[in-house]
Amino acid sequence: MKGELRYEGKAKRVYASANPQEYVVEYKDDATAFNGVKKDQISGKGAINNRITAHLYPQLEQAGIPTHFIEQLSEREQRVRAVTIVPVEVIVRNVAAGSFSKRLGVEEGTALARPVVEYCYKSDALGDPLINTDTAVALGWATPEQLTRIRELALQVQRFLTPYFAERGTRLIDFKLEFGTLESGEIVLADEISPDTCRFWDAETGEKLDKDRFRRDLGNVEGAYQEMLRRVTQAPTR
Ligand SMILES: Nc1ncnc2c1ncn2[C@@H]1O[C@H](COP(=O)(O)OP(=O)(O)O)[C@@H](O)[C@H]1O
Ligand SMILES: [Mg+2]
Repeated sequence: MKGELRYEGKAKRVYASANPQEYVVEYKDDATAFNGVKKDQISGKGAINNRITAHLYPQLEQAGIPTHFIEQLSEREQRVRAVTIVPVEVIVRNVAAGSFSKRLGVEEGTALARPVVEYCYKSDALGDPLINTDTAVALGWATPEQLTRIRELALQVQRFLTPYFAERGTRLIDFKLEFGTLESGEIVLADEISPDTCRFWDAETGEKLDKDRFRRDLGNVEGAYQEMLRRVTQAPTR
């Protein structure tokens, strides 16, 4: 089933499969932050992120967002459509936090009047620098039409996920997406949606339930990931 290793990233391995149009993604427990300076393992993280992504992506498909997800294969593995990743990380923000707060001097937790879409060049060597869509076109990473589609899909994901988490006691502060192209040129949502790639704050207490617990040494990282798996898979409660 699993063929040769195609890519190994910080959180996942991507393997070829018998079908050249499909890959097997394996989720690891490895965690990194600050561009790889901080490294550790979060026990159970791979399995949790696999399950969270496998739970959300079919619902995004149902909401009209094409994704790479096909099916969950095992505790740590899923079958996906092989795509060429657009080397642009797409960040959608509902509330100021992290690098946005630092860069602009806006206090963490400040609600934004409308969602903000930001783009970064996906490059570990350069630390994922902020870019704009002109940069991506000028350097040949995507066409203007593909970038328009990416923005539209990113905001569709925001419109689906924000109430989804609100109904499960959680504020979705921001999240990072990756998109890829199929051979046809069609843009699809790839990669993962998990506590590694989103900021989640408890709606009542503001407690952080995401990778910031690891980045900022807040403790109980595994517990937060487990809690987010529970919330994602529960029925809406409010
Ligand atoms: N469907 C897919 N086809 C090809 N590559 C993919 C697909 N989904 C995700 N990837 C890529 O798999 C790699 C491994 O993921 P990850 O460990 O999260 O990497 P990173 O260290 O870049 O965050 C990433 O480069 C990601 O862009
Ligand atoms: Mg990643």
